[in-house]
Amino acid sequence: MNQAIGIFDSGLGGLTVLKTLSKSFPNESFCYLGDIARLPYGNKSPETIRKYGLQIFEYLKNQNVKAIIIACNSASSVFMEDHDYFGIPVFNVITPGTQAALSITKNNRVGVLGTSATIRSGAYTNCIKSFSPKTQVTAEASPLLVPLVEEGWSKDEVTRLVLAKYLAPFKAAKVDTLILGCTHYPVLKGVIKELTDYKMELIESGEVLANTLRNQFADGKIQAASIGPGSIHIHITDLTDHFEKLAKELLSPQEFTLTRVVI
Ligand code: DGL
Repeated sequence: MNQAIGIFDSGLGGLTVLKTLSKSFPNESFCYLGDIARLPYGNKSPETIRKYGLQIFEYLKNQNVKAIIIACNSASSVFMEDHDYFGIPVFNVITPGTQAALSITKNNRVGVLGTSATIRSGAYTNCIKSFSPKTQVTAEASPLLVPLVEEGWSKDEVTRLVLAKYLAPFKAAKVDTLILGCTHYPVLKGVIKELTDYKMELIESGEVLANTLRNQFADGKIQAASIGPGSIHIHITDLTDHFEKLAKELLSPQEFTLTRVVI
C-alpha cells in the first residue's frame, strides 16, 4: 500500500497547503493533523510550540507517513534545523518560501507577514539574509488575522480594515514580494492583492512546498505513489463549530475523512 504524506498545522489554515499538494500530486495520499485543541500556536513560546510539534511528529510516525511537512509557519520557525525524524524526512515551510521570494523580487525588498511567534523568531529574516544579505526585509506580525479566518470572516469588512492597517508598512517600504508567512493568509489573498493595488507578488506556502516535493520525488529521495487516486484523511485534536464546513469549502471538490484524535 502507498504510504501517505504527513502534514501538520495548528488548525485549518494548513488545508490551503493540503489542497495545493493534493492537486499537484493526485496519486498521493495525505494524513493531515490539525491541532485545533491547542490553536493558536502563533502567540505561544518556542518551547511550547516545539513540545507540541514533537508530539505531532510522533503521532504522524505512528501513522506510517513517508514524509512530514510542517505546514505551520509558527511551528516551522522552531524546527529550522530538523530535517529528519527517526528516518522520516521533515520539511519546514520557511526555507522554500524564502527561496521563492528571492527568486521573484526585482527590487530586493521582501515583506513577511506572519504570526507573532513567526516574526519574533526572526526565522524568515535570518533565512533571507543567509541567502541574500543585501535584501531589505520588512517583517510584521498580524495576530488578529488567524481568529478572523477561523471565524469564517475572510470576506468581512472588518477583516479588510484590519488588513489595510497591517499592510501599510509593506507599502511604505515598497516591497515588491510579500511572503504570506502563515497558513491562514492564502484565504485572504484576493483582499491582500486589492489592498496592495496588485503591485506585490504573493508567496504561498502550498506552492513552494509542491516544488520542494516535486524535487524530492524527481531525486528519488521520497518515493512517489505509483497508483492513484490518493485519499485525504484529516485528523483533528478538537472539533470546532466551523471546522467541517470550512474544510469542505476549502478542499471542495476533494473528498476527505474527518476523525477526532487524541495525541
Ligand atoms: N498555522 C499558523 C501559522 O502558519 C497560524 C495559526 C496559529 O497561530 O496557530 O503560523
